[in-house]
Amino acid sequence: MKIAKLQWAVHLGALLTLAWLAFAFFTGRLGANPIRELTLRTGLAAFILLGLSLACTPLNAFLGWGGVMRVRRALGLYAFLFASLHLAVFLYDYGWIAGEGFDAGSVYQALFEKRYALAGLAAFLLLVPLAVTSTRGWQRRLGPRWQTLHRLVYVAALLASLHFIWQTKADLRVTLMYVGAVVALLLLRLPLLVQAARHGGPEARTPPRVAESSEPDEAASSRPDPVRR
Ligand code: HEM
Repeated sequence: MKIAKLQWAVHLGALLTLAWLAFAFFTGRLGANPIRELTLRTGLAAFILLGLSLACTPLNAFLGWGGVMRVRRALGLYAFLFASLHLAVFLYDYGWIAGEGFDAGSVYQALFEKRYALAGLAAFLLLVPLAVTSTRGWQRRLGPRWQTLHRLVYVAALLASLHFIWQTKADLRVTLMYVGAVVALLLLRLPLLVQAARHGGPEARTPPRVAESSEPDEAASSRPDPVRR
C-alpha cells in the first residue's frame, strides 16, 4: 500500500470508528447498557490502536515495511484519544449520580478499590507524558532522553494488558488473544533493545528501513510519536 493511502486508512479507520460509536450511542444502538458498552468499545479501540502502534517498529525492522513508520505517531495518538474517551465515560458512569450531580467519592472508590481500574489508571497516566512529548519540538528538547522516556510505552502496554485480563469476567480466551498479540510484539523488540544497548544507547537502534526522501513530509518517518520506542 502506498504511504499516503496507509495514512488515509489510519485516519479514516480511527475517525469512522469514533463517528460510528457516537452515532450508535445517540441513536440507541448500543443495547440495554449503552454506557458500559461505550466503555468496553473505547477501551478495546485504545488497546488495539496501542498494539498497532507497537507493531510498526518490528514490521519495519524485520520485514522492511518502512511505510508503517509514517503512521506510528498517529496510531499512538489515536490510542491515547480513545483511552481518554474510555476514561471520560468511566468517570461519567461511576461519578454521575442522577439528581445529585458529580460524586468524586464514588469515582475514587471505583478507581482505587479495584485492581483492574488501578492498572488502567497507571497505563493511562504513563501514556500522558508520551502524548504530550510526541512532537518534534519535544524530541529535540529532550534529545536522547526522549527515547528513554518513550520506552515507558512497554510498561503502559503491559499494564493495559493486565487491566484487560483483570476486567474480563467471563470467557478469557478472546482477551488472551489480544493480550498475546501485544506481548508477542513486545517480545519481538527484545533483540532490537539488546542490539541498541550493545551499540551504546537508543540512538544505535536498528535504523528504520524507511526510504529517505527530500520531501519534507517524508521526514515524518523518523518523527517521534506518543508511543515511540
Ligand atoms: C483510568 C484508566 C482506566 C479506567 C478507569 C478503565 C476502566 C475500565 C472499565 C470500567 C472497563 C469495563 C469493565 C466492565 O464493565 O466489565 C474497562 C474495560 C477495558 N479497558 Fe479500561 N480503563 C482505563 C484505562 C484503560 C487503558 C489505558 C486501556 C488501553 C490502552 C484500557 C483498555 C480496556 C479494554 C481493552 C477493556 C475491555 C474491553 C472489552 O472487554 O471489550 N483501559 N476499562
